[in-house]
Amino acid sequence: MLALRTLILFTALLSPTLYAETKSANLETQAAERAAEFATTLKSALGAAIKQGGLVEGINVCKMQAPAIAESLSTDGWTVARKSTKNRNQNNQPDDWEAEKIAQLLDMIRNTESIDNVAFSTNKDGQFRFAKAIKIAPVCLNCHGQTIAPEVKQVLSEHYPNDLATGYRLGDLRGIFSITKTLETPEP
Ligand code: HEC
Repeated sequence: MLALRTLILFTALLSPTLYAETKSANLETQAAERAAEFATTLKSALGAAIKQGGLVEGINVCKMQAPAIAESLSTDGWTVARKSTKNRNQNNQPDDWEAEKIAQLLDMIRNTESIDNVAFSTNKDGQFRFAKAIKIAPVCLNCHGQTIAPEVKQVLSEHYPNDLATGYRLGDLRGIFSITKTLETPEP
């Protein structure tokens, strides 16, 4: 680790651009780790809830625990969120940059390109931003699919009268993990 730091410092002296790139790569790794942790924590909480109390209990996990997990991972200047243009909770409405990345992913899907390992990142207005696709897996169809069980539909419509997040098919783009870090000194 020390050797790596020395190397980075040495590189920084030689090449500020390369140093900035190394720093971004590091932020990208950290952002990807937070996104992955959000995904696995949420998936296991959802799986456990469905197993215990069925889909209705699963809805509670998504409603209560998803924002709580996101918040618990939003430390050290990071913000962790899920965003979708076809959202269930309006708090998950994308901003301009996020909407642009969602549009780009949809374009890629339309061109039959795989989006599985695609991630976007940028330094913008003093923030490091990272986005990664969230795709519809089989379990998601229970609450976001084209045919939803009546009792599930009922509970969803009670909590989310303006729900836009149904009608999806397997493999569809559901939204993005959006990870942001406020940088202490804005990148030039
Ligand atoms: C048991 C029902 C249920 C299942 C199963 C489910 N979701 Fe959701 N999902 C919800 C609810 C409820 C919300 C709204 C959460 C909130 O209020 O923040 C939601 C919100 C989301 C959001 C945030 C954007 C938005 O629409 O507000 C994403 C992204 C998402 N779900 C993806 C998935 C994926 C991917 C899966 C499968 C791995 C999945 N969901 C499975 C119920 C479910």
